[in-house]
Amino acid sequence: MRIGLAGAGRIGARHAVAMCALPEVDALVVADAEPCRARDLAARLAPAPGVTALDEVDDLFRSGLDGLVVAAATDAHACLVARAVSARIPVFCEKPLASDADGTFQTVAAAAASGVPVQVGFQRRFDAGNAAAREALASGRLGWLHTVRSCSFDPAPPPAQYVPTSGGLFRDCVIHDLDLIRFVTGREVVRVMAAGANRGDDFFRECGDVDTGSALLVLDDGSLGVVSATRYNAAGYDSRLELFGSKDSIVAGLDDRTPATALPERGEEPRAAYSGFMERFADAYDAELRAFVDVVAGRRGNPCPPEEALEAFYLAEACELSLREGRVVGTGEVRR
Ligand SMILES: NC(=O)c1ccc[n+]([C@@H]2O[C@H](COP(=O)([O-])OP(=O)(O)OC[C@H]3O[C@@H](n4cnc5c(N)ncnc54)[C@H](O)[C@@H]3O)[C@@H](O)[C@H]2O)c1
Repeated sequence: MRIGLAGAGRIGARHAVAMCALPEVDALVVADAEPCRARDLAARLAPAPGVTALDEVDDLFRSGLDGLVVAAATDAHACLVARAVSARIPVFCEKPLASDADGTFQTVAAAAASGVPVQVGFQRRFDAGNAAAREALASGRLGWLHTVRSCSFDPAPPPAQYVPTSGGLFRDCVIHDLDLIRFVTGREVVRVMAAGANRGDDFFRECGDVDTGSALLVLDDGSLGVVSATRYNAAGYDSRLELFGSKDSIVAGLDDRTPATALPERGEEPRAAYSGFMERFADAYDAELRAFVDVVAGRRGNPCPPEEALEAFYLAEACELSLREGRVVGTGEVRR
């Protein structure tokens, strides 16, 4: 297979390494809006055979691709996906599919009209603990669910220049928790109440963002969800999913590297906490790209179609609106 990569930044570089390790991928063609980034990445991957860099992103669409991985900045996703599906190239696109709800809606429509698969990068669906939690809930082991909690605590903020184009904490970060809660419970969220805080660097406030946020979700079966995220969890990266039911409680993401100290302390030397999402979800990132190659080969259905990404985006929009207006927001208010 000949796979293209648009975007050679943080996550693009990680995806490139994963793609090079897949036996099905014979050639990886890298392009970035800043050509030197594509060249640098190709040079770093040089021992891997078949890696080339292009000077123009446009040339990706003329290079005979079997599939395209979009890992460019968020505001480039919608255009790259639309171009790929019109060229009949299956796409893996990092979340979010577009920077706003209209763009997401239009991208979903373009993908649906083309019939070309677009897999969205919600890698938490591929995490072994999260997948087991979904199965446990579906099996009835938990009884009826009363509360589901999901958190995304980053140890340190992203580079300041990332923040203005990120879409804000709920669209950029909490969207993972929102997708995961829908995926694991199989339920829809009917209303949300969100709040945010700015106690860290000024650059979040300066671009109208928050560095910490939480939202209470009411699901359509009456169960409650809580999502929380921060850019400042110096103890380490913490992504946990907790399900509490009438019969049992389970946690995915709780192990000896979870950055939380149980009290009273027992004097044991703790293991190093996860340094970030790259390390915590390394296996999940690999698994979602293996799945994409299977989608390209026609061996499996799409594990994360754009319609799912649109639902998660609507929830993030509802949280942002609730945060701005300080009120409960029904998810029907943000649907197109
Ligand atoms: N699933 C996850 O856990 C996860 C984690 C990190 C980032 N992401 C997503 O991945 C995307 C990239 O994030 P990042 O942290 O790698 O950002 P980054 O800033 O490190 O890299 C983005 C790259 O895209 C390039 N670029 C911008 N416009 C382009 C275009 N039109 N065509 C090709 N390249 C273009 C930039 O020059 C840059 O090299 C974001 O949308 C982000 O939300 C997802």
